[in-house]
Amino acid sequence: KTYSIAVIPGDGIGPEVTDGALTVLAAAQRTFGFSLDFTDYDAGAQHYLRTGNLWSADLAQQLRTHDAILFGAMGDPAVEPGILERGFILAMRQAFEQAVNLRPVKLYPGVETPIAGLTPERCDLVIVRENTEGAYVGQGSTIHANTPNAVAIQESVNTRQGITRVVEYAFKLAASRRKKLTLCHKKNILIEAGKLWQEVVDQVGSRYPQVQLDYVHVDAMCFHLPVSPERFDVVVTDNLFGDIITDLGAVIQGGLGVAASANLNLDGSAPSMFEAIHGSAPDIAGKGWANPVGAILSAAMLLAHLGEEQAALAIEAAAVGVLQKLPALAGPDMLMSTEQIADAVAELVTTN
Ligand code: NAI
Ligand code: MG
Repeated sequence: KTYSIAVIPGDGIGPEVTDGALTVLAAAQRTFGFSLDFTDYDAGAQHYLRTGNLWSADLAQQLRTHDAILFGAMGDPAVEPGILERGFILAMRQAFEQAVNLRPVKLYPGVETPIAGLTPERCDLVIVRENTEGAYVGQGSTIHANTPNAVAIQESVNTRQGITRVVEYAFKLAASRRKKLTLCHKKNILIEAGKLWQEVVDQVGSRYPQVQLDYVHVDAMCFHLPVSPERFDVVVTDNLFGDIITDLGAVIQGGLGVAASANLNLDGSAPSMFEAIHGSAPDIAGKGWANPVGAILSAAMLLAHLGEEQAALAIEAAAVGVLQKLPALAGPDMLMSTEQIADAVAELVTTN
């Protein structure tokens, strides 16, 4: 079987960690008997500075021909913050209806976490973030702008259909894991949105009697997540709360170097996109210091999404094997370069 993969390396360490992921994917295809056909796309801050192009209908049409998208990172100090986030990443999520942002929060053995006493057994959860609606629809207005009476109104849009598809996904995932689903919101204050979210969770939940339901306010989540992550199996939440608590999740699991993510299109109408959660890290770009494990684990999620579960599990196991040998996850103290780490993971994928 051959899969066609679009590769968007982007800026800074994006191309470096993407190269690492491609090395590991190449090893996996030899070992597990499928083949991957890669097509590179130039996009991101450098591309934008050169051409003025961000997301476009033409690019969307080309990307649609692929089975999945492997994404590095975008960003450059020369591009004003927000241009690429809204002009490319949010645009892709919305155009390709990537309804779910999937973020495993897993502490791997040997990885240093800032949470004292935390063990891998206690930290294995998945955050399911709604990825196309909420406060990120970009709707709002400012009344009396540039006056002492300015009022900025930022809307959060929550549709039953949008919530339902994410909640259905979260229940299915929970049913396949430890059978516990937590809704994270702020329904005591954001009463309109909170009511609809809880209603949908209760409705879908009636079809999943085996899944235990829980509710946690987002502020309380910021306390419980680092202190007792074992309380959570699958957490479902809206776009804004999800953006915030997934960064907290990354801290708990040992930092940006290891955290992976998927932006999933659930109905097969467009490709899903897979990326490490870190940015372009201009401070360490070009030095060979970037940890490629987040990108490698994202590539494993890509294979799992395509149905190559065995290869995905082998890559995860190999990454864990290499992580255990790394004294530091990033920076000048790292004993292995980006390339050496990727080579070591690839080697374990083929020999295990
Ligand atoms: P960042 O994630 O790029 O870097 C934050 C810190 O973590 C830096 O000190 C960096 O050196 C370190 N770091 C990140 N990834 C690492 C890795 N794999 N190995 C070792 N160290 C790593 O976030 P920052 O600095 O806030 O943003 C830099 C640029 O990236 C900005 O232009 C920002 O807009 C963009 N960005 C893009 C994202 C994306 O493409 N999805 C996500 C986040 C930020
Ligand atoms: Mg974020």
